[in-house]
Amino acid sequence: MFAEKVLSGMRPTGRLHLGHYHGVLVNWVKLQHEYPCLFFVADWHALTTAYDEPGTITQNTWDMVVDWLAAGVDPAQATIFIQSRVPEHAELHLLLSMMTPLGWLERVPTYKDQQEKLTHKDLTTYGFLGYPLLQAADILIYRADKVPVGEDQVPHVEFTREIARRFNHLYGREPGFEEKAKEAIKKLGNKRAKLYEELRNRFQERGEEDALEQAHAILDEAQSLSHGDRERLFGYLAGSSKIILAEPGALLTLASRMPGLDGQKMSKSYGNTITLREDEESIRKKVRTMQTDPARVRRTDPGDPEKCPVWQFHLIYSNDEVRAWVQEGCRSAGIGCLDCKQPVIEGVLKEQVPMHERARAYEEDPQLVKNIIADGCEKARKLAQETMRDVREAIGLDYS
Ligand code: TRP
Ligand code: SF4
Repeated sequence: MFAEKVLSGMRPTGRLHLGHYHGVLVNWVKLQHEYPCLFFVADWHALTTAYDEPGTITQNTWDMVVDWLAAGVDPAQATIFIQSRVPEHAELHLLLSMMTPLGWLERVPTYKDQQEKLTHKDLTTYGFLGYPLLQAADILIYRADKVPVGEDQVPHVEFTREIARRFNHLYGREPGFEEKAKEAIKKLGNKRAKLYEELRNRFQERGEEDALEQAHAILDEAQSLSHGDRERLFGYLAGSSKIILAEPGALLTLASRMPGLDGQKMSKSYGNTITLREDEESIRKKVRTMQTDPARVRRTDPGDPEKCPVWQFHLIYSNDEVRAWVQEGCRSAGIGCLDCKQPVIEGVLKEQVPMHERARAYEEDPQLVKNIIADGCEKARKLAQETMRDVREAIGLDYS
């Protein structure tokens, strides 16, 4: 049985904040127990927009990786690595660029959006246009099945699927494919072989998706198949070509409910963040000076939690009892805003205790982080090299 693989990446933005934690990292930590996971630092992607400010990328990478570890991403469960240390990504990106129509890249919504947003930068570059293709290479090189991303990245995963399909269509035809597929069917054993043929017919003639799923399950269970035969039989279901690059699916990460200290989205550029390893005094001060319902000017003015960013924090950090106390006390002016903020402060501090604990060793000895990354890069490279062997062979660049 081939377990489904999860892959996701993050550009190195430096220290992460509670928005990243509740939006992304909590999900990664959960997924690492459920699937083999690969998590990487997309440092080349950072360079597509920060090409004129290099120097910042390495420090941002180390800071971010320590935050991943602090948040509970566990190198014993997940493979953690840096994109540029697995140069196979670049080779696949290059090969894919040969068959990628320019129009496909120009049509990706983030292309124009980002150019319009980052007006202070010249983003009419070759590398920036290729951003989604590099991302496609990141995903396809590990034959990842599931890609956890936020909504803004869904078009990139869809683009990746189109690239995989085009690649398989162009290069997936091996000489004698039909015969080889038929030989492989025999290896399933009589009963399974018959069922496979039936399901294939149902899918090809009537487009029945559940027949396709059942056939996939049969292939997953067939222990005796070689990797090549399995790929052939997956391909034979869909049409007549071999699947070399698997189509991934997006695993939509729901938008974080974590607002910033001012009620806007939490973001470094708004200066409204609490970072993952922030010191206690600073957290107390930030929450104490947080904006509240503007209608509560004096202690005796009643307020409305719905109009207050502190309430959003209670939704994350407080239980029903505390929430009821806030609702009642705020609307009746029975509690002051500082009283109301106290449980939030305690909640944020408590959440950070294990993060500080996990991070301590890495802060004291950065070599530990480097070792984790070196290990992860080596594992990732092995997987990437396997795919690249198949890719080169399919394209006809196999000189061995
Ligand atoms: N583009 C992604 C982002 O900005 C980062 C990324 C690069 C990524 N390569 C990836 C995410 C591959 C998932 C899979 O968030
Ligand atoms: Fe906000 Fe709480 Fe003050 Fe009400 S009492 S305005 S919810 S901080």
